[in-house]
Amino acid sequence: MMTKLPNILLTGTPGVGKTTLGKELAAQTGLTYVNIGELAHEGQYYDGYDEEYQCPVLDEDRVVDELDQKMVEGGVIIDYHGCDLFPERWFHIVFVLRTDNTQLYTRLEDRGYTGKKLQDNVQCEIFQTIYEEAMEAYSEEIVHQLPSNTPEDLEKNLHQLIQWTEQWIKDHN
Ligand SMILES: Nc1ncnc2c1ncn2[C@@H]1O[C@H](COP(=O)(O)OP(=O)(O)OP(=O)(O)O)[C@@H](O)[C@H]1O
Ligand SMILES: [Mg+2]
Repeated sequence: MMTKLPNILLTGTPGVGKTTLGKELAAQTGLTYVNIGELAHEGQYYDGYDEEYQCPVLDEDRVVDELDQKMVEGGVIIDYHGCDLFPERWFHIVFVLRTDNTQLYTRLEDRGYTGKKLQDNVQCEIFQTIYEEAMEAYSEEIVHQLPSNTPEDLEKNLHQLIQWTEQWIKDHN
């Protein structure tokens, strides 16, 4: 029999640290890391263009279709700044990374974000938009918030997620 492996969703406002955590978690657990932004870019899974934000609009159905088989097999870490586009059945656990707004402001500014894009993203974090989206889209018991302000937080989160993954694998095999 193949070892059963969990699927993990890492979500949160742009800049909270999803990619940093997700890649390290994949490296340390052997789970497969999938960045939805990169996947969409590579496959050009877009459906129109958003004039206001000057970016292509994700073709959500296409993304879900492309990933479904892999998700059914299990062992995938998904990284995306949204969460209500994915089927509920995909995930065994959902982590919403959270960053204090002053920290996030600096991180996004360092990345070159300015004006409306910067304001909107910081506001998204202040309003807990992604956390609320996750609580609506998934069973509340599987949704967890992770503080992501400091390198110590990163280490702690990584350790906690590795522990959770190892325990899940023991419990399901
Ligand atoms: N726990 C942390 N403490 C301090 N800095 C962090 C932490 N996690 C990530 N960072 C830094 O914050 C920046 C943004 O991190 P990252 O690119 O992982 O965010 P993201 O959530 O993937 O953003 P996006 O949604 O835009 O892809 C990076 O410079 C990263 O090094
Ligand atoms: Mg990222």
